Amino acid sequence: MVLPFFSFKDKQSLVDVDIHSHLIPKIDDGAKDIERSIELILSLKAMGYNKLITTPHVSDMFLNNSQTILEGYKKLKEELVQRKIEIDIEVAAEYYADEHFEALLAQGDILTFGGKEKYLLFELSYFSPPLDLESLIYDIKLAGYRPVLAHPERYMYLHDSIDKYRDIKNMGVLFQINLISIDGYYSSEVTQAVKELIVNGMVDFIGSDTHHRQHLKHLKKSFSNGLYKKIFKYNKILNNII
Ligand SMILES: [Fe+2]
Repeated sequence: MVLPFFSFKDKQSLVDVDIHSHLIPKIDDGAKDIERSIELILSLKAMGYNKLITTPHVSDMFLNNSQTILEGYKKLKEELVQRKIEIDIEVAAEYYADEHFEALLAQGDILTFGGKEKYLLFELSYFSPPLDLESLIYDIKLAGYRPVLAHPERYMYLHDSIDKYRDIKNMGVLFQINLISIDGYYSSEVTQAVKELIVNGMVDFIGSDTHHRQHLKHLKKSFSNGLYKKIFKYNKILNNII
């Protein structure tokens, strides 16, 4: 029997819904098999999440599409039912802004989350600025989706000026920060950037971006970080209203 990595006394999340994770086994760099997948899910549940919107990578490296993702999702759901694990699990995707994504967007082969509003989670290169972000955002919106930029704090070419973030927000993009960024998981520059976004009220969603156990350890630490409550003080967080 698979047990959660954390016990139920660790219930510490201030939101019920997580909108970013890699929990479907074997289709990206997240859960490596079904046992690990179940363990991560049980751990997130123990931390207080009632609903998990899992978001496998779609990129040149992980050539997923709706079909590959939905097949994996169906198997995972069946496994959860069989093991009598009660958790609301939904699926979307995390699209890397490349030609594969643009082709899927043109075909309408896109997985989103939300109800009336169709939120599309996308990510950029960590090192090189996108060539034409404005036209990409335009295409996403034209197709009827609301763009949500995953972990904006992790893009190093945005770190030198908050105005760069403002420009992106002004294009109609929502921001989803990774909670473990506040705990210094990535780098001090990323932690500094996430602080700026938080105190400037620029955060719309928070996500765990869980791939493996290491992320859960830092997630748990993030819940007791002083910055965690500030996220809710300075920002209108949309996690629970989707
Ligand atoms: Fe991710």
